[in-house]
Amino acid sequence: MSDLFASLAQQPDDLSYEHYRELIDTLNRYARAYYVLDNPIVPDVEYDRLYRELEAIELYSEFKDADSPTRRVGDAINTSFAPVAHKVPLMSLGDIFDDEELVDFNKRMLEATGSEVEYCAEPKLDGLAISLIYEKGVLVKAATRGDGTTGEDITANAKTIKAIPLTLHVMKDDMVHMIDASFAAQSIPDYLDVRGEVFMPRDGFKKWNEEAKAKGQKVFANPRNAAAGSLRQQDSRITALRPLTFNAYYIGQCDFENDSDHLPDSQYGRLQFLKSLGLPVNEHIKVVKGISGLRSFYESLGALRPSLNYDIDGTVLKVNDIATQEELGFTAKAPRWAIAYKFPPEEAMTKLLNVDFQVGRTGKITPVARLQPVYVGGTTISNCTLHNEEELKRLDIKVGDTVIVRRAGDVIPQISGVVKEKRDGSEQEVVFPKVCPECGSALEREDGEVAYRCTGGLVCPKQQCQAIEHYVERAAMDIDGLGERIVEAMVSSQMIHNIADLYSLSEETLSKLIIDTTNEKEEEGKVRLLGKVVAKKIIANIDKSRQRPLNRFIYALGIRDVGATTAKILAANFKTIDELMQASFEKLTSINNIGGVAATHIIDFFKEEHNRTVIERLLTEAKLDLQACEQVSEMSEDTKPFLGKTFVLTGTLSTLKRDQAKELLEGLGAKVSGSVSKKTYAVVAGTEAGSKLTKAQELGIQVYSEAEFIELLGQYNITLS
Ligand code: IVH
Repeated sequence: MSDLFASLAQQPDDLSYEHYRELIDTLNRYARAYYVLDNPIVPDVEYDRLYRELEAIELYSEFKDADSPTRRVGDAINTSFAPVAHKVPLMSLGDIFDDEELVDFNKRMLEATGSEVEYCAEPKLDGLAISLIYEKGVLVKAATRGDGTTGEDITANAKTIKAIPLTLHVMKDDMVHMIDASFAAQSIPDYLDVRGEVFMPRDGFKKWNEEAKAKGQKVFANPRNAAAGSLRQQDSRITALRPLTFNAYYIGQCDFENDSDHLPDSQYGRLQFLKSLGLPVNEHIKVVKGISGLRSFYESLGALRPSLNYDIDGTVLKVNDIATQEELGFTAKAPRWAIAYKFPPEEAMTKLLNVDFQVGRTGKITPVARLQPVYVGGTTISNCTLHNEEELKRLDIKVGDTVIVRRAGDVIPQISGVVKEKRDGSEQEVVFPKVCPECGSALEREDGEVAYRCTGGLVCPKQQCQAIEHYVERAAMDIDGLGERIVEAMVSSQMIHNIADLYSLSEETLSKLIIDTTNEKEEEGKVRLLGKVVAKKIIANIDKSRQRPLNRFIYALGIRDVGATTAKILAANFKTIDELMQASFEKLTSINNIGGVAATHIIDFFKEEHNRTVIERLLTEAKLDLQACEQVSEMSEDTKPFLGKTFVLTGTLSTLKRDQAKELLEGLGAKVSGSVSKKTYAVVAGTEAGSKLTKAQELGIQVYSEAEFIELLGQYNITLS
């Protein structure tokens, strides 16, 4: 669009640099008034008129200043998403969900301050956290949160978001009255790392989806996904079309040259400070006092929520005083001085269109509700599990019913009830099948179990497919190229029946596999052959899988209750698959972490004649080499979680000895150093930790207490005896 205008533009009368600068400054001032102060000073048409004049000047002159609003959109595919190491980690927040937890939180904060606590209460914006780096007032880098330590470079895309200033400005007298002037910046920081949320306003989201639908394009499930998808575009010209915006909420780091200025000493003041530099801050932020202040903020924001033009999923409550924040510090993951107080789960009503019965890998039959798509708790739901027959009875649910769908945060959606008042008599009973919907075998229910299972075992094509799909999974035998569609085609054409058959496939046979492309091409009934090239690759991948270690093979067999970790434990205790196959219940349960249920399933699995035959064939015909076993205790170099990361141990550790902690860390790939610097990854602080801890906190480095450290080790299967 803009190029078109530029190419049609007449040569402007005034091509002087002074006029050019004046236009840029005016346009940027208008944009700040609009995005930051929420107080537009000119109508959009006036902004557009000046913008077009600016474009024309740039066309007929050499001028192209860095802060020109025309510079927001690059003209090439240049988004690299290169990793960006955050100098100060981007923390997440602890969650609370009810008043009792709120009281606890306030009590903890009260203990730290001794008097009624002042909070900066903010909406919890439901978008994507990013970090923006300004050097001498110029935006030089934008990065996503990533894992908190390393994010992705999205600078080109962030620049297209008009609410993100390309350059910072010290607010002039004519506008400074619009904020709490006492917190206004006097000078541009030498270095500023500001954190905030990128999100898509509801009206923009709605309009975008309506247009996409009309054009037959993909619609976004919710504004959050829309924002995430838009920020990760390879071509920033596409991001520029998306109605994204930004609010700042935290300063990661801020340095001034020669102490020319200083930061306000409260969270609220700092947000005003950011605003004075031209960074938009949310309009509903408030300073409140004590538990009553927190409660009324939560209530009033909740009441406001439906009328807001953006999604929020709760409130963020931050201790206002920065000195107290520093005293409280951080846990491994989140600040101790802040909490996210979430709104209750969202509910919505919709229609139950049908109930399907799915057969799982172990034969389990699961009823699945097909729903009229409904937007709830931040996403569009069209399917939802109904778990088992008991649940169908409990809900007394019928096809055609109006149902209530509930979804809390990331939790899987549930049907929480049926609105029986809405029945009109046309509803149909849900009949639980008597036989397997896939193979017609009888269903059985084990004692004490609610689930029905198909007794067809590996005769059931669905179970055959699922067993093969599981076997080829990355964490199992890692056979690339065998997706669901191909496996289904192989089983339904009777090319293979089980995992042992994979190894006797020839390239020739496989290349002739008929693939149904109905969904690929959206043309009913179209098919194609797999072809030689793909077949060759798959056969090579199958061949490579002969070298996988024993633990992966055990996991790949798909024994109920034997996940990847249990498989590793079994592989470490039984050196060969034969030994495992002969193990008694007593022997199995004598192993740490193997319980009675898993032991029973293991024994049952190997008792099954069919399973024994398949394993026999895998060893003798397919000649799997299961000797090289991945050890549980020895991680391979590239999977060590702290490879290249530096830890510092300080203070007195009570459970662990220093040397022991050092050894364990080194085993996980870490280096252990004696002093804290910007390069330190984390500090483990025992009691009476002194200056090293203070320094780590100043630098925003992750600090683990001894208990947290032990918990961290636990995540890598290291338990202390
Ligand atoms: S403050 C150390 N303030 O919530 C400060 N976060 O669960 C940490 N979020 O990833 C963040 N609104 O994306 C903060 N007003 C707000 C927020 C907010 C939304 C998000 C943010 C973060 C997540 C933590």
